Amino acid sequence: MGCFSGLRCCLEKTLKIGRRGGGGDEDDDGGGDSCDLFFELRTLQIATNFFSELNKLGHGGFGPVYKGLMPNGQEVAVKKLSVSSRQGLKEFTNEIILLLKIQHKNLVTLLGCCAEGPEKMLVYEYLPNKSLDYFLFDKRKSSALDWLKRFQIVIGIVRGLLYLHEEAPERIIHRDIKAGNILLDEELNPKISDFGLARLFPGEDTHLDTFRISGTHGYMAPEYAMHGYLSVKTDVFSFGVLVLEIVSGRKNHDKGLGGEKADLLSYTWSLFQAGKVLELVDPSLAKCNPDEAAMCIQLGLLCCQAAVAERPNMNSIHLMLSSDSFTLPRPGKPGILGRRGRWTTTNTSALTDTNAGSTSTGVTKASAGSSFVEDYSRNSISYSSLDEGR
Ligand SMILES: Nc1ncnc2c1ncn2[C@@H]1O[C@H](COP(=O)(O)OP(=O)(O)OP(=O)(O)O)[C@@H](O)[C@H]1O
Ligand SMILES: [Mg+2]
Repeated sequence: MGCFSGLRCCLEKTLKIGRRGGGGDEDDDGGGDSCDLFFELRTLQIATNFFSELNKLGHGGFGPVYKGLMPNGQEVAVKKLSVSSRQGLKEFTNEIILLLKIQHKNLVTLLGCCAEGPEKMLVYEYLPNKSLDYFLFDKRKSSALDWLKRFQIVIGIVRGLLYLHEEAPERIIHRDIKAGNILLDEELNPKISDFGLARLFPGEDTHLDTFRISGTHGYMAPEYAMHGYLSVKTDVFSFGVLVLEIVSGRKNHDKGLGGEKADLLSYTWSLFQAGKVLELVDPSLAKCNPDEAAMCIQLGLLCCQAAVAERPNMNSIHLMLSSDSFTLPRPGKPGILGRRGRWTTTNTSALTDTNAGSTSTGVTKASAGSSFVEDYSRNSISYSSLDEGR
């Protein structure tokens, strides 16, 4: 494997903990063969039947994903990165080293990677129950998700995102929170997938010009969609849309529903103003806790506010959901404009800085649309008072 031995060494030195097989306990730290964080191409070819169509789980913005069976019997998901990145092998490896350290029970575990020849692949733990959208938006399957399960899923996603934003060794802004990126384990517990993927493609937003864009766009915060402003609050916005989908059992945009119902966010806002939010609850739910449902809907609206700084951070969201005595603030207008439009910024370099935590709001700006900046700085002022008030 030639040049890989050096990278392996570097990887092992950096990763003090032995990790193998998705949550395996301590491994041998020296001497033993803990270097299989790099998978050999041959091993993955055999595991996936030479990337056969039968093993294909699907195809996302970064390339196809295949199910694989490793020699030790472990099932894995192999994501072939077909988007070519400007990143060199060293940068790629550094990012993988970082991502391998990001571990939480509500995140899909990255087991390692393969970088032989021109191809790069990521190897993940395999999750047997597909993704949340598969259950949520199919009336025949959504009964598997009763209210309790849905509420638990919301809390699990909050914990995973809180970890990415605040607790991980390095702050990770996901950028693509959506029902399709919430995978479900045997007990339908949620695990966020694809975190950190954007870091592997600096300067290239693969989702902005692929055929999959429309689905993802419905989750995009307007300031990101229109101006390229990226912050933890863009994830919060997407999370808000996702919560509304979980409660209502419908997609964020559904032309078939017609009229004001088509756009989930506008519709929820009009129900909220009319004091009828519970009309949003998925009619296919036999039972539902109305207090929890109303709280989730209000939380969803708080997360989707047009004013970036008024959106709560994941810490506040976690607090809101775990405390009985919390009175949620009244949400302001949702950010509806621009979510289905096209992002026009040409300077993409600033988008690659996902560690923009040093400013009070942690915002990265990709271009300086003056009116937006003005608007944004006004929002920044109210941020601290909002935080302190909770
Ligand atoms: N670890 C995994 N275990 C099981 N299935 C997976 C795993 N990772 C991905 N999949 C499945 O593979 C398919 C493709 O996933 P992929 O993440 O590439 O696409 P996507 O989520 O639709 O789009 P995006 O590129 O925006 O994430 C999806 O159906 C997904 O459920
Ligand atoms: Mg995905």
